[in-house]
Amino acid sequence: MEFQERIRQKKGKERIIMLTAYDYQIAKILDEMKIDLILVGDSLGMVVQGSSNTKSVTMEEMIYHTRAVTKGAKDTPIIGDMPINSCNTPEDCLKNARRFLAAGAHGVKVEGNKHDIVETLLKAKIPVMGHVGMLPQMEESYRVKGKTVEEAQKILGDATQLDACGVFSIVLECIPEALAARITSKVAASTIGIGAGRYCDGQVLVINDVLGLDSEFKPKFVKRYADLETIVKNAIAEFRQEVLAGKYPDKEHTYH
Ligand code: KIV
Repeated sequence: MEFQERIRQKKGKERIIMLTAYDYQIAKILDEMKIDLILVGDSLGMVVQGSSNTKSVTMEEMIYHTRAVTKGAKDTPIIGDMPINSCNTPEDCLKNARRFLAAGAHGVKVEGNKHDIVETLLKAKIPVMGHVGMLPQMEESYRVKGKTVEEAQKILGDATQLDACGVFSIVLECIPEALAARITSKVAASTIGIGAGRYCDGQVLVINDVLGLDSEFKPKFVKRYADLETIVKNAIAEFRQEVLAGKYPDKEHTYH
């Protein structure tokens, strides 16, 4: 069975787990942990490149990171996140989506309701994940979307239209959970929430947030499952002290 069918069939039965990865080593760990999907997200603009948003990320950069991830993840389906300006026309989007597949990805995620473009990809048999709600490629500042009736209707309409096109899954980002629940019950595609509450078909987080690599980044929806920032700092402090004290390298870590 194709991976996108498996994701669809989990809807309402088993929650879907997706995490981001940007490099070989994390991808290898995620692959061993048997999660459902790995997203090479354009969030790498922030967590890898140090930008304040995703708007400067290029196709070249996405392909570079996708190649690294595909070397680490042998079994887990990998979704390439179409960066800003990669989908301005159906022709461009198709060409760029094929670049992701050539780099080893199994499908692509397209941000926003670009249904005509999505249809072109689907006709070319490229599995597509939609993305509605808060759209980082289009926002000036990040905030919860869909709190007003107009915004909620627009987001529901976007999700419904993408679903009718045939996307296998839709990311719901930063929307009230009642709206996410309504979308989830209305669409056939599996919804994957990030800041969209408890009733989506699955959940995604940025791996750096799950691991707690940056204590300064604290949106409400992020739960840190580890405190790697402290672990890394402690390891570096110990290394520094041992080098200064002449304790490292010792006999055991030296060639004779
Ligand atoms: O780029 C990304 O990591 C994403 C997720 C937040 C869904 O789009």
